[in-house]
Amino acid sequence: MPHTSRKKKNLHSKRREIVDHDGWTRVTSSSSTPLRIGLNQTANESEQAPNGLTGSATLVERLPSLPLPMPAAKGLTLETMRAQFAGIQARWLETDLCRKLEQMLTDKVLTSGCSISNCAVFGTGSFCGDAVHWVDRHESAYFQLAAFRTVVQTIERVQGHVVRAYAQEPYYNELDTLFLASIDVAKIDHPRGFELLDRNSFVYSPAAEQEVESQIIARAPWMWLHRSFDHSLQGGRDSDASSEAKTQFKKSHEHAVLPELDLKNFPFHGSVIWWRRTDDMDERVQVS
Ligand SMILES: C[S@@+](CC[C@H](N)C(=O)[O-])C[C@H]1O[C@@H](n2cnc3c(N)ncnc32)[C@H](O)[C@@H]1O
Repeated sequence: MPHTSRKKKNLHSKRREIVDHDGWTRVTSSSSTPLRIGLNQTANESEQAPNGLTGSATLVERLPSLPLPMPAAKGLTLETMRAQFAGIQARWLETDLCRKLEQMLTDKVLTSGCSISNCAVFGTGSFCGDAVHWVDRHESAYFQLAAFRTVVQTIERVQGHVVRAYAQEPYYNELDTLFLASIDVAKIDHPRGFELLDRNSFVYSPAAEQEVESQIIARAPWMWLHRSFDHSLQGGRDSDASSEAKTQFKKSHEHAVLPELDLKNFPFHGSVIWWRRTDDMDERVQVS
């Protein structure tokens, strides 16, 4: 394509190039455009995972690149975010889905004397709007966060003490982090969120990528709320190891399909909750 040399110069001065871990060079002309970057630095950090989880190596292999933080919509402040969340949370609390979820947790899921150690939500998307996709799903992010809080608060009520809650999402920017902190949810960076999971965790991963789900399943959390395997986002074929982990997970956990909720962009479409079977807990007690 013909270009004048002057135009070219201007363009070049604005362009930034980023080389992915896989050798692709990405070019952008905007300093605010989120780019995908290699994870080499994170990979090295993850090798020093304190709990010795072998999954950190898998993370590098299977989650090769992550988006950079989402630019916040113009004029957005912590106060306006809190106000929007308060409105959405109030709407969520009025839904049948919220009532049924709470009821199921108190009457069925949390009755077996489990002791949830921490709670994590993965991949809500940014709460600050969406400058990169066709559909702005930040309202869905607020709804999903409201549902996460309902589960955390129910766990706290049943267990009689506060549990740590954290959120991992590469799109979170500084405003997202401040907003989350203001409601006692700690923002955590990939891959630390996966490393903190254990068999006593509660995890919520609304519409997560297959690779994210594999990392969660590998930690076999006590309770997991997600979009059902039938509605999974296809990211390719499961490796033998993750397909085996999924089979094991299904054997060791019971599940229930949650009712649909008719909301814009369907933030809870196909939701399923899994919790560890009592006989699996008994087995563990005998073994240890
Ligand atoms: C399909 S989108 C779903 C977003 C939102 N939950 C919804 O329902 O619209 C998957 C989300 O997972 C996030 N994600 C990707 N890798 C992740 C990781 N390693 N940890 C946490 N979130 C991740 C993506 O940035 C994206 O926001």
